[in-house]
Amino acid sequence: MEASSYYNVKSWWWCCLLGLFILFASAASFPVPEKLVAEGETHYHEHGVRQLRTAWADGPSFITQCPIRPGSSYTYRFTIEGQEGTLWWHAHSSWLRATVYGALVIKPRAGTSYPFALPKREFPILLGEWWTSNPIDVVNQALRAGAAPNVSDAFTINGQPGDLYNCSRKDTVIIPVDSGETNLLRIINSAMNQELFFTVANHRLTVVGIDASYTKQLTTSVLMLGPGQTTDVLITTNQPAGRYYMAARAYAAAPNVPFDNTTTTAILEYQSVPCPATKSRSKSKSKSKCTSSQPIFPFIPAYNDTQTVTAFTTSLRSPSNIKGKVPTEVDVNLFFTVGLGLNPCNPGRTCQGPNGTNFTASMNNVSFVLPSTVSVLQAFYRGVNGVFTTNFPPIPPTRFDYTGNVSRALWTPSRGTEVYRLKFGSTVQLVLQGTNIFAAENHPIHLHGHDFFILAEGFGNYNPRTDPSKFNFVDPPMRNTVGVPVLGWAVIRFVADNPGAWLMHCHFDSHLTWGLAMVFLVDNGVGELETLEPPPADLPRC
Ligand code: C2O
Repeated sequence: MEASSYYNVKSWWWCCLLGLFILFASAASFPVPEKLVAEGETHYHEHGVRQLRTAWADGPSFITQCPIRPGSSYTYRFTIEGQEGTLWWHAHSSWLRATVYGALVIKPRAGTSYPFALPKREFPILLGEWWTSNPIDVVNQALRAGAAPNVSDAFTINGQPGDLYNCSRKDTVIIPVDSGETNLLRIINSAMNQELFFTVANHRLTVVGIDASYTKQLTTSVLMLGPGQTTDVLITTNQPAGRYYMAARAYAAAPNVPFDNTTTTAILEYQSVPCPATKSRSKSKSKSKCTSSQPIFPFIPAYNDTQTVTAFTTSLRSPSNIKGKVPTEVDVNLFFTVGLGLNPCNPGRTCQGPNGTNFTASMNNVSFVLPSTVSVLQAFYRGVNGVFTTNFPPIPPTRFDYTGNVSRALWTPSRGTEVYRLKFGSTVQLVLQGTNIFAAENHPIHLHGHDFFILAEGFGNYNPRTDPSKFNFVDPPMRNTVGVPVLGWAVIRFVADNPGAWLMHCHFDSHLTWGLAMVFLVDNGVGELETLEPPPADLPRC
């Protein structure tokens, strides 16, 4: 197996840090070493890497480790097993990931190849989100005020906003291609708080992989990715030589919730494009052959086009060779609500959430509180009491019409560091049910340390009598992040075959900040191969 990485950084104040962030390519099944030296407290998460028995290298702040202090270092050691395709890495502490993230590309093992013809070229396409102010100030100010954080000022493709923003034109990313090629785009939604449509003018996209699992080929003109999701697509350059925009902009499912409605673009540029004899863009970094021919702009679905989103996500399928791998028996049946909430303002303070409240968010009415002295995994490993409780509810504490008009009495969750404990090897079915508390949204729910099958999704309240008939046991898509439909539900299944502490959370960082998270604690099984490795000697001290 060969792993290679790209990094993408937009903000100058991180350049020095990333200069020291060395990622090595690795061969065969040796661990992929990553050496990093942090200048501020931080944590790196290899989003989607299974981290079998190496939960210590997973990275989220106060879940598997304490912060890497200024001047110290921590080497993430892990083996990538059974995963091929596109994942990514990002900081996992406060909102640092707004600028600290990159692609993690897992190529087929030496001597094997893709389950499709070898593409001529490959391009990582990282969709990002950009604030003109420091994103840490944005989140801190929102937390102080109890309000929703300011929406971003731009989206980016490989760090650049593109032609539709002031002063950005000269740095628009160019993707150089020749006529008649089939190329692979590895698209990653690394935005903070926004699901995004992605499309390329006049070109069809053939999906071949999602979240580092291959899929049956699916040809479409538009993709939707939630933050945390990746989609690998083949694109054939069968159009007249020219310049074509690729564009991404918001899928905003929640009515009346402010969002960044700008559009980021890059240019798919045929190298043989006939340039009119005018000034070329030779001085620009982007190395475009010519600027005088205006690229063709694609059709992008409307911001609230849930129908297109549903048509796309429900068409994704695993390859036929997963037959028999979808668990049919379930050991643990779980039902979690996911949604927002409002907390009353503390006496003597002014809160700028709706009607003078504070925004919050929860799963099963528990708003997750990060520990502050030791990580969940360290506390579990060493048997430290008082850091977490194991009483995360398997079903909502109160049943209600989740997607209807929810009584105000149910808008205020409890708070706690509550985890759910699983025996090694247990098969888990989890219904994720969106709620209509304050605002219904499509929540991208990400599970660390595991991939899961998405058996079905739907709208309204999940019905345990009728909806199981919709489960796909033949070729359901496998992912690490599922978009729970707005005012709807999704059912996932996974085997808890990885001992450790695994965060599950909404990959909107605004919602994660408000507590839309919980932790699965997976026990050791029998013998070395089912047991968490001991913590590395350089694990940061708490
Ligand atoms: Cu992309 Cu908790 O992570």
